[in-house]
Amino acid sequence: GLPEFVKIVEVGPRDGLQNEKVIVPTDIKIELINRLSQTGLSVIEVTSFVSSRWVPQMADHTEVMKGIRQYPGVRYPVLTPNLQGFHRAVAAGATEISVFGAASESFSKKNINCSIEESMGKFEEVVKSARHMNIPARGYVSCALGCPYEGIITPQKVTEVSKRLYSMGCYEISLGDTIGVGTPGSMKRMLESVMKEIPLGALAVHCHDTYGQALANILTALQMGINVVDSAVSGLGGCPYAKGASGNVATEDLIYMLNGLGLNTGVNLYKVMEAGDFICKAVNKTTNSKVAQASFRA
Ligand code: HMG
Ligand code: MG
Repeated sequence: GLPEFVKIVEVGPRDGLQNEKVIVPTDIKIELINRLSQTGLSVIEVTSFVSSRWVPQMADHTEVMKGIRQYPGVRYPVLTPNLQGFHRAVAAGATEISVFGAASESFSKKNINCSIEESMGKFEEVVKSARHMNIPARGYVSCALGCPYEGIITPQKVTEVSKRLYSMGCYEISLGDTIGVGTPGSMKRMLESVMKEIPLGALAVHCHDTYGQALANILTALQMGINVVDSAVSGLGGCPYAKGASGNVATEDLIYMLNGLGLNTGVNLYKVMEAGDFICKAVNKTTNSKVAQASFRA
């Protein structure tokens, strides 16, 4: 049945803003994160310690990490692909990190410039260093429901990569539908496979909404017992190495659905809508959240 409480992992400042065409000014990012910190969210992914040549939108990672106000009860993870990124993240004050792998060989090469096998070696170093410093590490698996280069990805491959990340010490595995091609059918088949190897409490879903299936896919995951869901305020974003992929499911739309199901999140929908309105005005775009569109309509 459905879980009583759902933890929302807000990824807008990272997954969202990494894919905006304009480079969002650092002070706007900081203001967005500070606003999100006051909505009841318990996890806000802040930035990525990746190469600024690869993702110029995240070049101000250190300034953002140092500039935000860290509210009690809120965690602020950052992406770290390798030891270099990890050391920079720690120096900037990060106390939680994520490594990001893929279930597709081609996507791994395009995204982080190495094979899946090579990436596991790098992640192992990062997760081990993190453990020595008592820094929790999360693991992403991209292309869990399909790849922009290879098409179909088997549930077996997703399970294999998830198991590697979990075994090396990632406390949570976020299964990413990077290009939003999944359906409740493929989500169910993928989760059935992964759940045989990894405890339910260690799984999260990360759905992009390219084909409009994100909420349906999330509901499927909730019905299978998963209670951690990634989302982005205003449905910002995409992935720079997954052309045409649209943003994550909007946090506003996710909360609206969860509220309707009577599931507790601890997050105030109206305050998230206000944070969404702030960032959309700042980057001069209209929100991708259907709930925000409906609510702000005169
Ligand atoms: P590389 O070129 O293979 O790295 O990049 P390298 O180790 O060969 O080093 C080459 C140069 O990069 C060196 O500099 C290094 O110092 C530098 P040089 O000596 O030439 O001046 N370098 C770095 N600089 C800054 N930060 C670092 C770092 N590491 C090396 N951490 C690398 C490998 C991973 C760095 C690169 O491919 C990269 O930055 N990729 C970015 C990938 C990315 O951010 N993708 C988007 C996030 S993933 C995503 O969105 C999916 C997700 O949302 C889930 C889903 O939706 O599925 C998580
Ligand atoms: Mg993503």
